[in-house]
Parts: sequence; C-alpha cells; structure tokens
Amino acid sequence: MINKSTLLTLLIVGISLLLQAQQKKQAINSKTISPDLIGVFFEDINYAADGGLYAELVQNRSFEYSLSDRNGWNSFSNWEYITQGFGYGTISVETSSPIHPNNPHYVVLKIEDEGREGVGLKNNGFDFIPVKAGEKYDFSVFMRQMSDNTFPIQVKLVGKKGAVLGEVSFSTESKDWKKYAATITASQTEDSASLVVLAKAKGKLAIDMVSLFPQNIFKNRSNGLRADLAQTIADLQPKFMRFPGGCLVHGDGLGNMYRWKNTIGPVEQRIEQRNIWGYHQTAGLGYFEYFQFCEDMGAKPLPVVPAAVSCQNSGGTWRIGGTGQKGVPQDEMKEYIQEILDLIEWANGPVTSKWGAKRAEAGHPKPFNLEYIGIGNEDKITPVFEERFKQIYDIVKAKHPEITVIGTVGPSPAGEDFEKGWKVANETNVPIVDEHYYEKPEWFIANQKRYDSYERSKSKVYLGEYASRGNNLFNAIAEAAYMTSLERNGDIVHLASYAPMLAKAGHTQWNPDMIYFNNTAVYRTPNYYVQQLFSVNNGDFYYENVVTPSLNKGDSTLAYSCVRDSKSGDVIVKLVNYGKNEQKLKVDLSQFKSIGSKATLSILTGTADAKNTFENPTRVAPVIFDFKVGKNFNYLSQSMSLTVIRVKSKK
Ligand code: AHR
Repeated sequence: MINKSTLLTLLIVGISLLLQAQQKKQAINSKTISPDLIGVFFEDINYAADGGLYAELVQNRSFEYSLSDRNGWNSFSNWEYITQGFGYGTISVETSSPIHPNNPHYVVLKIEDEGREGVGLKNNGFDFIPVKAGEKYDFSVFMRQMSDNTFPIQVKLVGKKGAVLGEVSFSTESKDWKKYAATITASQTEDSASLVVLAKAKGKLAIDMVSLFPQNIFKNRSNGLRADLAQTIADLQPKFMRFPGGCLVHGDGLGNMYRWKNTIGPVEQRIEQRNIWGYHQTAGLGYFEYFQFCEDMGAKPLPVVPAAVSCQNSGGTWRIGGTGQKGVPQDEMKEYIQEILDLIEWANGPVTSKWGAKRAEAGHPKPFNLEYIGIGNEDKITPVFEERFKQIYDIVKAKHPEITVIGTVGPSPAGEDFEKGWKVANETNVPIVDEHYYEKPEWFIANQKRYDSYERSKSKVYLGEYASRGNNLFNAIAEAAYMTSLERNGDIVHLASYAPMLAKAGHTQWNPDMIYFNNTAVYRTPNYYVQQLFSVNNGDFYYENVVTPSLNKGDSTLAYSCVRDSKSGDVIVKLVNYGKNEQKLKVDLSQFKSIGSKATLSILTGTADAKNTFENPTRVAPVIFDFKVGKNFNYLSQSMSLTVIRVKSKK
C-alpha cells in the first residue's frame, strides 16, 4: 500500500522530472540571440544630410562651397546678388577676417547706393525652400559692419512669382562679427520659395552663416533634424544607428577622412569638407547631432572611424584595381589613436574630463553610453591597413575593455579582402566584424544558410551593409527571407543594417535605398517595411521547430523564424513566401506556456514587381489586424508575402 505522503513525494518528483524534461526540450529548441540585431545605417550619400535629414534650408550658408566639391562650384554657388530697385555697388568673397579660421569665406557687400529696395543676397535653398502657411522659421546670420554706419536689414521669404511670404527687419549694431536672429512666419504655403537678405544703407558689410530652420523640428532640438524624415527613421525603432558611413568615413584621400572633432562645437566653427559622393558636407549634422538623434530614437550609437587609411578607391582608382589607399604616417599614429580615445571620452566620460566637458558644454552632461565603435569601412586588407588596424585595436581594447570594437572584412561576401579580413579578425580576436554585400534577390534566397555554419567561437558578425539591388516587392521579400536566417543565427550575427538608408530625388548617387524623399514628401519602400516589421518585432530568444511547411522540403519557397521578446513575453513568428504559389504550413506553439490566443497579424504582400513611388507611396504597405491563434494552427502563406504573427503574452 502506498501511503499519502509517499504519493505526494512521487507526485512532486514526477512534476519536477516533467519540468526538467520540458526545460531540457526548451534548452535544445531555443537559444539567446542579439537584442540589438536590427539597426540602421546612416551615410551622407544621396543628399542624406545637407539638403536632407539636417533641417537647414539655406544651401551654402557659409560660402564654403568650392571647386573641389564639384566642378563649377564656388563660394557663391546657389547665391544671387540682388540689386533690384536701382541699388548698386560691388560684392566680393573675402577671407582676411572670418568669424573663425575654420570657416574662412564670407561675403562683403560694398553698397554705393541702396536704391529703393536695398542691396543683398538671395538663396534658393536645396531645390528651393518649402514653406507652410502659419509655420515659423528661425532665421539667423552673422554680420560685421566694415564702415562706420549701421545697416537696416530686411529678410524676406519670397515665392517663385515674387510674392512676399513673410518678412522681418532688424538693424546691425557692431563692427565685430555678431549673430542676429529673428523668426519669420510664412503667410502662404509654397514649395519653391527663396530667402532674400537686403541691406538698406550705403557702406561696407560682411555677411556669413545665413541660416533658416523650420521651427517644426524632430523633438524640438536646436540645429536639428527634419521632422518627417527623422520620424520615418525613428518609426523603424532601430536598435542602433551606424554613422557617418560608408565610404564617407575613410574618405577620398587621407585629407578627406571623416574626423569627428571637426564636426562638434558651434556650427560656425566646424570644419566643412568635400563629400566623397560629389558634393559638400557642412558638418552641421555632426557627432553631437548623431548621438542626440540616437538617444531620441532609443537606438545605440555606432560610430565608425577610419582605420587610419583612406578609401582604396580614392581618386576613382577602382578602375585600375583600387590602389588609392594611403595610411596615416606612422609618426602621426599616436595622435590619431588619441583622437579615437578622445571620442570615447567625449561620449562616455564624466563632465570633469576634458572631452566629457565638451559634451556637457554642448548641452548633454549625461554620458551617451557608447557601447560599439567600428574601426574601418570595407577597407582593402593590405599590410598598411593591417598594421594600423592592429595598432588602433590594441590600444582601444586595452584602455576601454567595455567598448565592443567592430573590425572590417572588405566590400564583398567572399573573395580576397573577405578572406584576409577574417584572417586579421581571427588573429586579433576582434569581437565583431563588419560584412558588406549588395547582391541580387536570388543570391539572398540561395544563401540563407550562410551563417548556419559560421564557427560560434570566432568573431561575431555585423552585417553592416546589404541590399538586394532593387525596391520591388520581390527584393524586399528576398531580404525578408534572408532576415529570418539572420534571426536564426542571431547568436553569431549580432547586428545588421540595410544600406543605404536615405536618398533625395534628383540627387541620388546610389540606388536602391530604403527611404526616398524630396523637399516636401517622404516615401517608404517595401524594403523599409520589411526592416520595420523585423525591427519592431524583434526578440532575444530564438526557437526551432515551431513552423513546419506542409510540402516536402524541396518544394518549399518558405523561410521562417520564431523569436520571443522577453520584455513583453510575446512570441513572434515570421513567415516568408518568396514563391509564386501559396504555401501551407503548420505552426506549433505548444512549448510556450505563457501565451494566450490573442495575436496581431501583419502582412506585407503584392505582386513581385510592385513598388512605391511619390505618386503612390503606399502601394505596398503592411496591413495589420487582430488574429486568434491556438496552440497548433495551420496557415496559408500567400505568394510573395511576409507575415508576422505576434502572439501576446498572457500577463
Ligand atoms: O552604401 C553605399 C556604399 O556602399 C558605402 O558608402 C560603402 O561602404 C559601400 O561600398
């Protein structure tokens, strides 16, 4: 006879064995994956910064455009000299007494007669200036009286046909450089306005840093970002943002490398330079603004600094085998490495440190909590590179073990630089390496097993740039299929970002991109929606054996993944059908005890060649609705679709 207490003991032992078995099953079926997997890549390419995300409306505000930016450009590019109303005099660009040596050029008006309307300048913005009725615009300018008199100044927003859409007046009051600021309210909506600044007195006047910002700015930051574009990026809920590139980082020649210190401090003191993509960087969107944007979006900052070498394609040398790479001279390496250590101190150091104090001065006493730093961008792996990368990495690792360094393995998914880059990674044990590839959609479909066989004991991967060469739905779906494999390998693929992100219509050096915009509109590509569906539905645990295709394995055009977000407890199943036919599949959620039957279902689908445009911006967009699930259910996955089923936690 078994007595009550033996029965109870047996019951307890039985339950605990059952629980252990359950846990064991879970341990086999699940693994932790990177919670930072999906982020964004920002590069100032395609007018992504000036004329794009950076909300400044005046083009060439500091008269620093030059021939080396682009043939035909000069200090006065995008400006007109205005002498309407019978005024006359001369205009010149001078450099002898600038606001700051970093910003050498300014304009001097020598007014012999101000006429009826004054003498001055007109700026047409970036493809003109869009203004909205009732909205306010912050104008500012630096002026210096070079004659004894003061100057009445009139500032106007003028429509294409000459209508005055808003104006403001003030008077100069200093023989030293002085900043004047005023707000203009637009009386009408006009997409093609210009800014006119007129001086209404005889004499000599110096002018620089002519600026106009909308007050409608993302998160109301000063020197801030265009609200609609920034919000479009923030809506991706990226877990990190890489910046400032791309090839922009290592630059077209050593003198063109992106040096972070040139981009902080008062905008009139930043060092502007040629953009490798054939235009000009004002550095108005600089390191402070990048870090602030990351914080405002809840994304971790991921700055990439040059590995002390310039781009191998400098001067267009890709045509002759990419021999343009130059290394920072060895006698400058100590100083160069210090610049990187200073960046870490600037981002994370206390306000009492030299560089932490500069961050605080700019308005951010709290640290920015930098965790990741990239060293190098798809550089050619040469002895010059290797030597410098190792020098930088050794010192950063020794001084800042808390920072995760990301190395680089060339511009392709295979080949010489890839092999050599991985060799360097294996020798140095760099925590993460940055892989880049732009391939056809078929490549992404065929290579879904790429990371399954990566050795788990080696460096992790940051898939820092990838795209499938198109913005059709098929491209996006191929990327989605591949992204299920990134989730499946989220224990080794730590970070991933589609590239490039932004492109301004009419100023695009690289296609495809994820988000297209002009001065007044933004549209999201199908590729954007795929990134968004993965990012907002990320998890930190990956589960096997949840989805089973009903067809024989060989016939399947399905890719799938299942993750759980431990913060919400939700379980998320992603189902991708990149084929021409519907596909039946089974979902088995029986291993998840903490979920209920409530779910949301998001589906992105359409014809393979469907794409979004300015005229039809939401032809392809996800549809989201409530959905009920059982522990086991069948699902019919439509052709050319991404379905995300988010099953809510019971709690
Ligand atoms: O994303 C566009 C360019 O592609 C990047 O600047 C470069 O890193 C890559 O070759």
